[in-house]
Amino acid sequence: MTLAAMATKLMRAVQYNSYGGGASGLKHVEVPVPTPKKGEILLKLEAATINPVDWRIQKGKIRPFFPPKFPHIPATDVAGEVVEVGKGVQKFKPGDKVVAYLTLANGGGLAEFVTASERLTVARPPEVSAAQGAGLPIAGLTALQALTQAAGLNLDGSGQKKNILITAASGGVGQYAVQLAKLGNTHVTATCGARNIEFIKSLGADEVLDYKTPEGAALISPSGRKYDIAVHCAITGIPWSTFKPNLSANGKVINITPGPSTWATIAQNKLTFSKKQLVPLLTSAKSENLDYLVKLVKEGKLKTVIDSKHPLSKAEDAWAKSIDGHATGKIIVEP
Ligand SMILES: NC(=O)c1ccc[n+]([C@@H]2O[C@H](COP(=O)([O-])OP(=O)(O)OC[C@H]3O[C@@H](n4cnc5c(N)ncnc54)[C@H](OP(=O)(O)O)[C@@H]3O)[C@@H](O)[C@H]2O)c1
Repeated sequence: MTLAAMATKLMRAVQYNSYGGGASGLKHVEVPVPTPKKGEILLKLEAATINPVDWRIQKGKIRPFFPPKFPHIPATDVAGEVVEVGKGVQKFKPGDKVVAYLTLANGGGLAEFVTASERLTVARPPEVSAAQGAGLPIAGLTALQALTQAAGLNLDGSGQKKNILITAASGGVGQYAVQLAKLGNTHVTATCGARNIEFIKSLGADEVLDYKTPEGAALISPSGRKYDIAVHCAITGIPWSTFKPNLSANGKVINITPGPSTWATIAQNKLTFSKKQLVPLLTSAKSENLDYLVKLVKEGKLKTVIDSKHPLSKAEDAWAKSIDGHATGKIIVEP
């Protein structure tokens, strides 16, 4: 930050002023440092991550809800240090290191400072770096919710063994899903591109399919297993007709990328009393779940796979990388 900017309490930020434009629609600006309101904390940011939903919002895919207004500073998943607290804040004080989810409506992560709700912020112990923590909110919570809430898996290893398929295991959500699934009593089959096969095995997957081969595209388990749960993370759609023959009798596909065909399939499954189910999932951020993920990282049971790190001054490179759809793990932006 320049001296002049500090004197007037300005900060560097990256924002867009209208729908569309991709990476070149992002503009570097200096804007006032926000003031924390009641129940909010002001964070000096150390890391933020980009999620596909961030550029989907820029594309206008979730209009008219998000962004609620222009200009909009995107990115919701951040880690930083508390520098000021608003009225009524109990959990945090200046100097605390934290991970926060900023919500899709507010965003604000591509900046030097941001205000976060105390409710959606958790403490970050020294063992968890800013980049490791910032990756967790949307991607980690989605993987956790899909496996536990939607699929009913216990992550303490208890319960009957389940065969799990994870598509796009190399993506932001998929890499967490593989690691979390292996905390349960599971056999994990994962799909990814050829270049990531050995890497995904190193995260714990028992067998890995290259999604560009005929067997991979057909989701056929090399060991002949039928899946009890499929966590479908691939941004490119895979039809229900491909999943169905690979599912066990009561198998479930948890689809985190639901589209119009998802709803048609759900209706058809209801009409035909299908025991095999397709379940759409939208993440709901809960601080106790975020806290749980941070603790797993602290204990060395989970890690954030980092695709790349970009300075805030090159945030458009991080944006373009996410739009490109070939990240291995999380894309980090550092102020
Ligand atoms: N429902 C929700 O609440 C929710 C929450 C989070 C995310 N999502 C959605 O979930 C999707 C995934 O998110 P993400 O953050 O994981 O995305 P991401 O990090 O951008 O995913 C990129 C990865 O996906 C792999 N991939 C793409 N198509 C594939 C396929 N057909 N089979 C296997 N791998 C494939 C790519 O591998 P290659 O490079 O080898 O092609 C790349 O490694 C996005 O559409 C996102 O919007 C939804």
